Amino acid sequence: MASEPAISGSSEISSEKPATAPADSNIDHAASIRYWNSVAANSNTMLGMLGSYPWYTRIDLRGSKSFLSKVRRLVPGCTTEGKLNLAVDCGAGVGRVTEGLLSHVCETVDAVEPVEKFTQVIRDSALKRAGVVGDIYTVGLEGWYPEKKYDLIWTQFCVGHLTDVQLVHYFVRCRESLTETGIVVVKENQSTDPNGNDMYDDEDSSVTRTDEKFKEIFQQAGLIVITSELQLGFPKNFKLLPVRFYALRPKS
Ligand SMILES: C[S@@+](CC[C@H](N)C(=O)[O-])C[C@H]1O[C@@H](n2cnc3c(N)ncnc32)[C@H](O)[C@@H]1O
Repeated sequence: MASEPAISGSSEISSEKPATAPADSNIDHAASIRYWNSVAANSNTMLGMLGSYPWYTRIDLRGSKSFLSKVRRLVPGCTTEGKLNLAVDCGAGVGRVTEGLLSHVCETVDAVEPVEKFTQVIRDSALKRAGVVGDIYTVGLEGWYPEKKYDLIWTQFCVGHLTDVQLVHYFVRCRESLTETGIVVVKENQSTDPNGNDMYDDEDSSVTRTDEKFKEIFQQAGLIVITSELQLGFPKNFKLLPVRFYALRPKS
């Protein structure tokens, strides 16, 4: 495994447990993998990936497409028309985002996902046979060391499985794996804890972070937020967690 790259800023996020253990100290990777292995790998409905709301994915993907178009216009030198060359879908599950978004906006899409039965669905997909899906890495993001330069690193609904320290290291590796005009997009649920803390969920052993925590982690990884917005359009009566996009570029 490659050595950990340098992290900028102070070392406020440390792997030592303080007196009151932070939410991410509860993360247990084996428990997460057990949970996701118990979820059906259904490439048609993708219901297992996103709970039981089939409409959710339509709203989600539409919002992502529009966000990405905006972001491409904000990056000097980035093409605003046509497809990007190479993207990677991180924490890809069965390839919902690859199929519904990335394959439409990128020539080739790699995938990173630790659960073998999910990567098998991607391996068996028409997009793989068509050569749109490129390399598939069956590994958690904490153990992924990119070997290519990407125009787009898309990370959605999965970083809660990494501790804060692992996440900083992951984003440093992402920063170092971007092309000149490359972009990292993070799309994640946001904590609604009344005390402003990250929330631990023992069902899948993950944390849901606050906006402040995400910004602190990006800063430590040497990334700047070029734009950020909430995903709109989810029906209010379902009381879903807010979902926020971040578009990130290396700090110059
Ligand atoms: C809610 S699903 C999201 C899948 C996909 N990103 C999407 O939006 O459809 C969460 C995914 O995170 C994956 N996961 C679990 N632990 C992970 C880790 N350590 N690194 C990356 N992904 C992980 C799960 O296997 C699962 O596929």
